[in-house]
Amino acid sequence: MPDNKKFYTLFDNENGNSYEIPVLDGTVGPDVLDITNLYKESGLFTYDPGFTSTASCKSKITYIDGEQGILRHRGYDIKELAENSNFMEVCYLLLHGDLPSTEDQNKFRDAITNHTMINEQLMFLYRGFKRGAHPMAIMVGVVGALSAFYHDSTDINDPNQRMIASHRLIAKMPTIGAMAYKYSIGQPYVYPKNELTYSENFLNMMFAVPTQKYKVNKVLAKAIDKFFILHSDHEQNASTSTVRLAGSSNANPFACIAAGIASLWGPAHGGANEAVIKMLSKIGSKDKINEFIEKSKDKNDPFRLMGFGHRVYKNYDPRAAVMKKTAHEVLEELNIKNDPLLEIALELEKIALNDEYFIEKKLYPNVDFYSGIILKAMGIPINMFTVLFAIGRTAGWVSQWKEMIEDPIKKIGRPRQLYIGENTRSYKPEEKREKISLFKRLWFK
Ligand code: CMC
Repeated sequence: MPDNKKFYTLFDNENGNSYEIPVLDGTVGPDVLDITNLYKESGLFTYDPGFTSTASCKSKITYIDGEQGILRHRGYDIKELAENSNFMEVCYLLLHGDLPSTEDQNKFRDAITNHTMINEQLMFLYRGFKRGAHPMAIMVGVVGALSAFYHDSTDINDPNQRMIASHRLIAKMPTIGAMAYKYSIGQPYVYPKNELTYSENFLNMMFAVPTQKYKVNKVLAKAIDKFFILHSDHEQNASTSTVRLAGSSNANPFACIAAGIASLWGPAHGGANEAVIKMLSKIGSKDKINEFIEKSKDKNDPFRLMGFGHRVYKNYDPRAAVMKKTAHEVLEELNIKNDPLLEIALELEKIALNDEYFIEKKLYPNVDFYSGIILKAMGIPINMFTVLFAIGRTAGWVSQWKEMIEDPIKKIGRPRQLYIGENTRSYKPEEKREKISLFKRLWFK
């Protein structure tokens, strides 16, 4: 019997064997069955497509209670961080585990500020892309290419290099993202400016032009900062798990974050903010909302209400609540009265939250539902939305990557499978094979 206080017993009805499965308890949250030795002892694997019941690691960074709609980073509630903190401080918190002292905050800010430029040679890489290429495609390429430039921070076994790589990634993401935008519209790149804050700097690199003075609006910069905080980490989501899995083979951090960006791009994940605006525009007017709600409920229609539902939250996403408030603040600052997309979004939310289907399935607005409204109002093009998500999430990706590398029980990620294909077959010479074209059958399914 294991030493742990708690364990579950698994009975094998066929041969009468039983196996003790130890139970691990975290600080808060559900207990976890430790099946590390299950295969060795019983010859059994577990089956969990989409990892709906699987904890892939131990982590001290982020805690989510999906039923209650709670999100905490290092113990601090997301709402409190969004209202009182700033993105730099949250980056420090995620990476180091505590809020910084004034001295540490200044040192950290300096470290990030001094890494915001990218190697001039990297500029040529952009020219290889088609004008009008999706900026997320550029991000995957350019961030991956950082490993070809910063050899002095790719030794994952050196703690100092791990920290420098983390600082470089947090610092360079806004520069790389803004350059992708400038390239796509044929404007000159704008270099980072050290006197600006992280979020002000991003807006300046996005919207300044050499011909005239550009003054960053403080309210909008604050809203972008909040956006980055709200997207900074979210436990073991698809892109973070991708970063961890890529990193588990000891791949360099730049390659791992590029893998995370690729995963984030999908519309079921970070691409949803772009998809929400496209959906709201397609709905077009309040009287069409019911039609789209019905469509999303139709099992034979692949359409889903974008910005609704979440694997973990079975309650209002706490990030969505802050986003909704920020959307109102931004529209007020920009003097936008009766924004048609916001009007549709508010009405859509109201109808969906009172609809039996959404109530029964516990589908609530998620972080992406209101974020696009804020970004669109600021003049950020739709195809840049997921880039902004990636900039914010980089803080979480590098923190989770670092935690994984520093975990004493780090192992290469190598899931197993339930094989359901053919059993052993003998090779058949061509003339003895089936007459019907296999190629046709597979291709035109
Ligand atoms: N509209 C209509 N029905 C939905 C929706 C939706 N947005 N989301 C889930 N459902 C239904 C789904 O059809 C299923 O019904 P049934 O049980 O009858 O088969 C049930 O709810 C459970 O859905 P699921 O796909 O099994 O749940 P999941 O946990 O695998 O998926 C999700 C979570 C976020 C991928 C999904 O809710 C979704 O596709 N939402 C729209 C895309 C979106 O907004 N994504 C952003 C997620 S938050 C930002 C981030 O972290 O990346």
